[in-house]
Amino acid sequence: MDNGIPIFPAGVLKIYQNPNPPIIPDIDDFDYSKQGGGNPDSTQFGSENPNIVDNKGLDDLKVWFEECIKDYLDNVMTLAYKEFWIHESWINKSRPNSAQSMHNHSNSLISGVYYIESTPNHPPLLFEKVAYNADPFISLRKHYHEANPNFTNRLAMPCTKGSLIMFNSYLFHGFGQNKTTDPRISLAFNVLANLSDRDAYKLDFVKKERWVDNHNTDYVVKSDGTDGTNSIEVKNGGSIEDGTIRRRMSK
Ligand SMILES: [Fe+2]
Repeated sequence: MDNGIPIFPAGVLKIYQNPNPPIIPDIDDFDYSKQGGGNPDSTQFGSENPNIVDNKGLDDLKVWFEECIKDYLDNVMTLAYKEFWIHESWINKSRPNSAQSMHNHSNSLISGVYYIESTPNHPPLLFEKVAYNADPFISLRKHYHEANPNFTNRLAMPCTKGSLIMFNSYLFHGFGQNKTTDPRISLAFNVLANLSDRDAYKLDFVKKERWVDNHNTDYVVKSDGTDGTNSIEVKNGGSIEDGTIRRRMSK
């Protein structure tokens, strides 16, 4: 059946299957931090390297990721660039009953999620088109008589062990509750690229360590309602410099 020609897709994802998935040594020995809201434990917020692919034992995987990233930039995006690099990466361990709420990855061009440990019964990775794009003023969402990939606002991709799902970082994604007794373990990364010069301008990212020295910096923003102004409380010895609140981002 001819379903017509999709125009201007919301994004493009590509799945790569690792032909030789490496055994990752000591996967349980990483420093995982617990997150709130039933989200997975993660190496993002503790003492671990904020770019976990640079850890010993993950070298082969990093090389393969870079091959896949090159394919995505060259052939999927056809982007003209000078260099690219994984600028942050982390491991998420979804224990039984945990789930990942919908989110996207800021300050990044493309992202990947690689499945270190997963079973067919684990929840798939869900991509969601945000409502302001999916619903016109008159919403048709409840009126389709069959699933249609061109008009749905949700797509589920399998979290197959040894596979890598690469996608535009702005796409919203998450997954439902892990109803198995086995942990679902994934490694996620973000990629930046310096783009080829154009006649009138040059656009480069400057590679810098993105985390502050104090790994425990945390903050809350609250309104005390007394003088009509917001106040900011920095916990665990963190600091505010030049009016900038520094914090870690949830991925
Ligand atoms: Fe994510």
